[in-house]
Amino acid sequence: MQGWIKVNVLVFKTFIDILYPDLAEKLEWLLPVQDAMSDDELLRHVKQNHVDILCTSHYLWNHEALTSQLLRIKSRLMLRAVIAGGPSIDVNNNKDFFDQHPYIDYAVYGAGEQAFADIVSHLVLETPMIAFNTSNCGWKNPNTGLPIVADYKFVKMLETSPFVHNAELFGRMVADAKKKNVTVIPEWVPYTLTRGCPYACTFCDWNSGLGNKVSRRKNTYQQEIDLFQKLNLKNIYLSDANVGQYDEDVDMVEYFAEKNLKENAGFRISGNYSKLNKKNNLKIFNIMAESGLVQQTLNFSIQDINEEILHNIDRPDVGWDVHVAMADELREKYPHLIVKTQLICGLPGQTVESWRQTMQQIVAKNILPNWFVNEPLPASPAIYDPEYQRKWNFEYDKVTRIDLQANHYVGIVPKKCISFSQHDLVKMIILSGICEAVSLINLTMMQHFKLRIDTEFIIDNLLSSEGYSILCDNLYSNWINEQKFYLTQDFAGNTTTSCSCEVGFAGYSLLANETFILQIKNLLLENQKEQLSYLNSKKILLQYVLKIFTELA
Ligand SMILES: C[S@@+](CC[C@H](N)C(=O)[O-])C[C@H]1O[C@@H](n2cnc3c(N)ncnc32)[C@H](O)[C@@H]1O
Ligand code: SF4
Repeated sequence: MQGWIKVNVLVFKTFIDILYPDLAEKLEWLLPVQDAMSDDELLRHVKQNHVDILCTSHYLWNHEALTSQLLRIKSRLMLRAVIAGGPSIDVNNNKDFFDQHPYIDYAVYGAGEQAFADIVSHLVLETPMIAFNTSNCGWKNPNTGLPIVADYKFVKMLETSPFVHNAELFGRMVADAKKKNVTVIPEWVPYTLTRGCPYACTFCDWNSGLGNKVSRRKNTYQQEIDLFQKLNLKNIYLSDANVGQYDEDVDMVEYFAEKNLKENAGFRISGNYSKLNKKNNLKIFNIMAESGLVQQTLNFSIQDINEEILHNIDRPDVGWDVHVAMADELREKYPHLIVKTQLICGLPGQTVESWRQTMQQIVAKNILPNWFVNEPLPASPAIYDPEYQRKWNFEYDKVTRIDLQANHYVGIVPKKCISFSQHDLVKMIILSGICEAVSLINLTMMQHFKLRIDTEFIIDNLLSSEGYSILCDNLYSNWINEQKFYLTQDFAGNTTTSCSCEVGFAGYSLLANETFILQIKNLLLENQKEQLSYLNSKKILLQYVLKIFTELA
């Protein structure tokens, strides 16, 4: 498992310690459990640690497993209460919430500090739960069994650092994560200074559909970074929505950089950067590149370069030309770095043709397309805004997908909307994989031989090849016949379980396919053919690509 250290417990504890000292005195906080547990493990853990209030955090990746587990064993856990929070807890707009989740006693939605403090105070100090006096949570009336849901209130970030305030608990959490993390991918810490996002991109649930207010903790980053260094944490994910929006973000990244340059701290950072303050972004990218804070890739989140699509998704952006100029400048200065763009396939207004143009233009500018399939998030405007629904007429489908560890999971994906059909989406997905694979070959060739290949010509050729049709037919038939949202054939049409491939990794699995590599080789200039054979036979291509993917940036 990749060790994400989940830090929300520190935020809750700080809030209670500072604002409710009487309550704080009565609480003992246990180390949060990050990974899935079997029923027996959870039963044992609760018993051994005398857990009486179990707090669970729910999002796309664990909601189904966690709720089924609670349904199975809640009665045997002997708890005083289960408090559930996280983006998948929709008690605020689901009147059947407690019927669907009878094992949850208190449900917290949106920012949870105040709600959590009120619920725990009720459980521990027996203060009454009154909807009018609390916010952002729901529970069942103990007399009538009917649900009560308190209104939403924006909760500002506290000025106190949750990391520094809880240095001892945080230190134990880090030690625990390091002990449990058995893979080569080390622990990442999500690091937030700003809460909320001022924008409302239609695919995004950042603000949980609860407004676009923003608040920020200031002047704490130096002590926090000192603490990260002391705890030997190396990988920091800047998880604000728009790092660089505030000038202090530049100072913060500068401080990380100084630690690397002067004290050899070995920090690596990654994050979500500002949509509009490109001046600060450029400063941040330069600082990161010069100090080894990034070693492989610089990330631009764009979603699509087509202005009409950006308009359809209410996405603020400075324009493709500005991104390209910035990428060129950065590549010129730091030729070892790759610029990549995060993109979403299946957005409103996209067509096979528009998406192909987007992909090809990105690849032609030597930028790596890093694409995702549009996922409908319940708390995003795409799902809750009736005007969006009416305008784009999306239909969604429940499908089986495969994750990086080859586990199956259930996902929801768009089936069609007014600008694309189910068949079109399949084509868009396969062409994304092909463009990504060609881009990866181009970037590897540029890194190793300083020569670029004719990506435009190669992609055009591949998109009229038999291999492309085979993959499209395979995905389409898997999807419509068996609800499988993955490939079970390779580029040559061979059925193989080893290539059973989640669509999002199609680019990588194409590179591992000899027929695909051979087809590309036949489209290259003579000297480039030899170069590609060399990179392929020595496994340099796949190793380099893996290195790119293991850096989160
Ligand atoms: C954690 S999100 C960061 C969002 C960031 N604040 C931004 O403005 O781009 C990382 C990436 O996930 C992808 N993503 C976000 N929401 C998505 C959705 N509903 N479906 C598919 N991909 C999504 C986007 O490409 C996004 O850039
Ligand atoms: S995608 Fe990023 S910028 Fe857009 S609303 Fe979400 S967090 Fe904000």
